[in-house]
Amino acid sequence: MIKIYAPASIGNVGVGFDILGAAITPINETLLGDLITIEPSNKFQLVNKGLFSSKLPKKTEENIVWKCWSKFCKVVKKNIPVSIVLEKNMPIGSGLGSSACSIVATLVAINEFCNKPLNSKELLVLMGQIEGEISGEIHYDNVAPSYLGGLQLILEDTEIISQKIPSFKHWFWVIAWPGFKVSTAAARKILPKQYKKNICIKNSRYLAGFIHASYSQQPNLAARLIQDFIAEPYRMKLLPNFLKTKEKIKKIGAISCGISGSGPTIFAISDNIKIAQKISLWLKKYYLKNETGFVHICFLDMQGARKIG
Ligand code: HSE
Repeated sequence: MIKIYAPASIGNVGVGFDILGAAITPINETLLGDLITIEPSNKFQLVNKGLFSSKLPKKTEENIVWKCWSKFCKVVKKNIPVSIVLEKNMPIGSGLGSSACSIVATLVAINEFCNKPLNSKELLVLMGQIEGEISGEIHYDNVAPSYLGGLQLILEDTEIISQKIPSFKHWFWVIAWPGFKVSTAAARKILPKQYKKNICIKNSRYLAGFIHASYSQQPNLAARLIQDFIAEPYRMKLLPNFLKTKEKIKKIGAISCGISGSGPTIFAISDNIKIAQKISLWLKKYYLKNETGFVHICFLDMQGARKIG
């Protein structure tokens, strides 16, 4: 039996649309991600468990786990009879890389089960393809961090898909999911097809500056450069009172704040645990819209997908 955990992630990290992604783990050591258990069987079987399993499609063939299994079988050109349990702990359409958690955990588990016929690049390419089928376009900024951990820079070079870049060890990442869904496909459709030259230049300047600040370990510069000119102006209407919320949590002391992936989760950064706790309390009180919503204070998850138990 193999059990794999794949952590939640913050796509885009504000300044790198489809280019930056960060895996996260709550500081209180609760697991924020999906789990896959895989065992030999005489045919394919899937059981869904976990807090958000009731939101999964009823048909097995529409489940991400089935799609991963079926694609993997095609790639390695053999039928793999297995019994899989998905523990769906991540809310779907939350902006925390929920689909990526399921994709990554499933593919890592099947690959392990089969004694690793695919190398990590081949596996990541497959993860990106499946993510693309679900959200309408290939993007690696959730699957790469969930699989490889840390802060990932998506390169999509012929040899290298993604690489870890230096991050700031003392940053607390506060994430708040208000408790409702925003479909990534829909949130991608509302973005412009083209951007003006001045926006492209500004975006390049901020992203390049952020990477520079990360390598030269200048946390304040890096935090100031986390600004989103590509998605936030168009997506903020999908989030409850985004601008007021951002203003408030910056007043409390956040050094940065943005939309996590395609939302509606927001993230805030602080290098001070007391401020992070204050932000967390404020978000719990004013940003959550129902009882399923949650707030977590996180560190970056440097490990990514891993065996559990
Ligand atoms: N980069 C993707 C997007 C992440 O913003 O659409 C989705 O979570």
